[in-house]
Amino acid sequence: MKIIIATHNIGKLQEMNFLFTEFIPKNYNINLVSLNKYPDIPEVIEDGDSFQANAEKKALFTANYTGEMVIADDSGLVVDALNGEPGIFSSRYSGENATDEQNIEKLLENLKDIPEELRTAHFACVISIATPNNIIGSFKGICNGIIGTKPQGDNGFGYDPLFIRTDIGKTFAELPHDVKNRISHRARAFEKAASLIEKNIKLIEKI
Ligand code: IMP
Repeated sequence: MKIIIATHNIGKLQEMNFLFTEFIPKNYNINLVSLNKYPDIPEVIEDGDSFQANAEKKALFTANYTGEMVIADDSGLVVDALNGEPGIFSSRYSGENATDEQNIEKLLENLKDIPEELRTAHFACVISIATPNNIIGSFKGICNGIIGTKPQGDNGFGYDPLFIRTDIGKTFAELPHDVKNRISHRARAFEKAASLIEKNIKLIEKI
């Protein structure tokens, strides 16, 4: 059976494959397919006012376009001292087409007078599951940390070099991929979504 992952990003597809093996260990003979298999699919404008609204919009549109079961996610960094910024604007914090480096620079600038104990933040992710004309469910996961004063580490993407897990004492960018992928906001959201995903696989496959 085919499940569409609503992304063009190969890294995210690999991460979803990892999460399936981790949280749905039974082998259902599932093939996860990214949007790269649908080159003509129109881009979904992420104009919702929450992670959930954006994830559901992507999931439903993609399910209606492909006729398949879809998993979509929306995520971002929520910084307490900045009233939740950059939030749903995380990828374009310093402007449309901003690079990770530009976004990091803007975040450091906005936090430059904020002391360590007030630099608390979390990554948030909402995973939505849809079939044509039907949102089956949406699940939120978060991962707490603090924002460092300089980028550290070469793994990962986005704000990973600034996001310090205080219990580990390292940024996400200093952790091996499999360690980050087990504790991340996406893993926490997927863990909650797993039993519903499994239930729908069984329904569709008539197992
Ligand atoms: P999207 O949900 O894949 O569109 O991600 C939105 C943006 O949030 C990304 O472009 C990153 O800037 C940020 N972000 C989301 N998840 C992570 C993460 O695990 N590490 C670092 N940045 C992230």
